[in-house]
Amino acid sequence: MATTPIDSRGTWNTKLGFVLAAAGSAVGLGNIWRFPTVMAENGGAAFLFIYVLLVFVIGYPVMVAELSIGRRTKKNPVGAFKALSSNKLFTLVGFWCVLCGVAILSFYVIIAGWTISYFFEQVFHYLGYFSLAEWVSNIENGWLNTAVAILFMSITISIILGGISQGIEKAVRFLMPLLVIIILILIVYVMFQPGAGAGVREYLVPDFSVINMELILAAMGQAFFSLSLGMGALITYGSYLNKRENIPEAAGYVTGFDVGIAFLAGMLIMPTIYMAQAEGLIIYDEAGSLVAGPALIFQVLPELFHEMGGLIGLIFGGTFFLLLTIAALTSSISLLEVPTSYVIDEHKVPRKKAALLIGGFITIISIFIAFDTSLIDDIDFIFSVVGLPLGGFLICIFLAYFWKTENAKLELAQGFENIDTNLFWPVWKVFIKYICPILIILILVSTIYSIF
Ligand code: PHE
Repeated sequence: MATTPIDSRGTWNTKLGFVLAAAGSAVGLGNIWRFPTVMAENGGAAFLFIYVLLVFVIGYPVMVAELSIGRRTKKNPVGAFKALSSNKLFTLVGFWCVLCGVAILSFYVIIAGWTISYFFEQVFHYLGYFSLAEWVSNIENGWLNTAVAILFMSITISIILGGISQGIEKAVRFLMPLLVIIILILIVYVMFQPGAGAGVREYLVPDFSVINMELILAAMGQAFFSLSLGMGALITYGSYLNKRENIPEAAGYVTGFDVGIAFLAGMLIMPTIYMAQAEGLIIYDEAGSLVAGPALIFQVLPELFHEMGGLIGLIFGGTFFLLLTIAALTSSISLLEVPTSYVIDEHKVPRKKAALLIGGFITIISIFIAFDTSLIDDIDFIFSVVGLPLGGFLICIFLAYFWKTENAKLELAQGFENIDTNLFWPVWKVFIKYICPILIILILVSTIYSIF
C-alpha cells in the first residue's frame, strides 16, 4: 500500500520496500565475500554455528534497538543521540558510528570494484580475449582498482541523490529476489561437481574443538558487519520508517533474510573452494592458513564459471558478478547514507552537495587502499571486528540506561499493539539491558587481551 511521505526527509513507501531496503543494506559483500572468507579462515561449520548463535542472541536485539532509536528521532546517529539524551558523551558515540561508516565504505568500494572487474573478466574470457581477461582481473593493479572503485562510488552517489523511496527502494525491489534465484541454481550445479562433497561436509559438520576466542570474535564481527549493525545504518534507515510498521517483526524478516543468504552463499562457496582445491588450486598453505585472503572468492568462483564453459559459463558468471555488484550497491548506499544524512541534518547541507562531498572524500581514502590492498584486513579488523561491536555495545547502554527501555517500549508499541502481552517485550528488555552488552564486552575484552 503506497502512502505519501510524511515529512521532507522522506519515508519508505511500503513495508515491503523498507524490509527489502534494510535487507538490501544487510545482504551484500558481507554475505558473499566476507562470510565465506572468514569462515574458511576459522574452521568451517563451527564458525557457522557460533555466527548464527550470535546473530540471534546479539544481532537481532541490537537491530530492534537501532530501528527504534532511528524511528523515534527521525535523525542520523549523531542527531539521534543528541535528541534523546543531553549527555555529550553520546554525541561522540554518534561520531564513532559515522567514522566506522566512512572507514568501512573506503575498503568496501574496492572489493565492490573487483566485482565489476570480474564481470568483465567473464565477458573477455568468453570472447576469447584471454590476455585482456587476465589484465582486468589483476586485483593488484592500483590504477585499475582506483578506476573501478570510482565507477562504483559514482553509482552509489547517484542512487543516494535520488533520495529514499525513489532511489533506494525502487532499486532493491526487484534485484534482491533475482540474486537468490541465481545463487540457488549455482548451488545445484556445484553439488554435482567432483570434490564438492568434502566442502559440504566442512561446511555442515562442526568440529567444536576448533572454537577459541578469536573464532568467537570473528563471528561476532561478522554478525555485526553482515547485519549492518553498530554504526547507525539502521538508525538512519529506521528514521525513514513509518510509525505503522511493527519494528520487531520487520527486524525479524531482515535478520532471517540476511542469515539465509549468508547460509546459501556458504553452501555455494565452501564446496567450490574444495572443488578448486581438488583441481590443484592452492587454497591453504602448509600451516593451514588461507593463502588467498580477501581475494578468495575472486580466485575460486571464476574457475567454477570457466569450468561450466561456453555461453552457460558466461551467463552464470556474468550474472553472478553483476548481481554481486548490485548487492554491494544496496549495502554501500546505506553506508554512504549515514555520513550523508549526518551532514544534511546537522549542518543543513543540501542532499546533493552532502552526498558528493562525503562520497568524494571517501573515494580519496579508498585510492590509498587501491594501491595497497593489504590495508583491507587492518581497516576491517579495527572498524568492523572491533568497531561495530563496540558501537553495538554503546547503543545497548544508551538505550537501556540513558533513553530507558520504557521509552523504547512506547516507540515499539506503535505498529505493535499487543506488545504488553507478547513474550517479545520482557525477553528483549533483558537482552538489551544485560545479555547483549555483557556478552559483547566480554568477547571484545577477552579476545583483545589474548591477542596482545
Ligand atoms: N551489511 C553489509 C554487507 O553485508 C555491509 C554493511 C556494514 C552495511 C555496516 C552497512 C553497515 O555487505
